[in-house]
Amino acid sequence: MDAADMGDDLAEIIITEEQIKTRLREMAAQIDADYAGREILLVGVLRGAVMVMADLARALHTPLEMDWMDISSYGSGTKSSGVVRILKDLDSDVTGRHVLIAEDIIDSGLTLSWLAGNLRSRGAASVEIAALLRKPEVAKVEVDVTYVGFDIPPEFVVGYGLDYAEKYRNLPFVGVLAEHVYNR
Ligand code: IMP
Ligand code: MG
Repeated sequence: MDAADMGDDLAEIIITEEQIKTRLREMAAQIDADYAGREILLVGVLRGAVMVMADLARALHTPLEMDWMDISSYGSGTKSSGVVRILKDLDSDVTGRHVLIAEDIIDSGLTLSWLAGNLRSRGAASVEIAALLRKPEVAKVEVDVTYVGFDIPPEFVVGYGLDYAEKYRNLPFVGVLAEHVYNR
């Protein structure tokens, strides 16, 4: 899917495919340096983190395993509530592992702070977070995010894994939808 497929549903591209690629490579270099001599358990949060997982994992040189969780933070539309439920748990035991959570976006931060706490309580040796996007202005809780791709304004965005009503995840860039899409 590309901008041309969206017609006037796309209001603006805020982060291009090239910018994402470059930034993920920089993040991977920092992660490689920080994790030297250790092995990573890279945990992706379904479904938004699929693209970040695929591209970040391929840019990393540190030995790693990939595992997935699906969690739902109760809430409808475009707001998260902070009440989290596990829809699919990890297949791996995290005891003694160096867990790096890969996420698409941190909005309120409620989902990730819950997840990081959950994995720490299972006995992980360390739990860090790598997120492509962060909306700093709307954070409800302090989340310690070690690796952040881009800070963006508090707007609803789609693409590169992020959806609106399950659509637009396969856009190679991050963009903002036109107002009329939400009112259809
Ligand atoms: P949080 O708990 O408010 O930080 O929300 C985290 C989750 O909400 C993310 O993993 C996304 O799935 C979703 N989300 C938050 N902001 C956006 C957005 O702008 N576009 C699409 N999904 C979003
Ligand atoms: Mg998500």
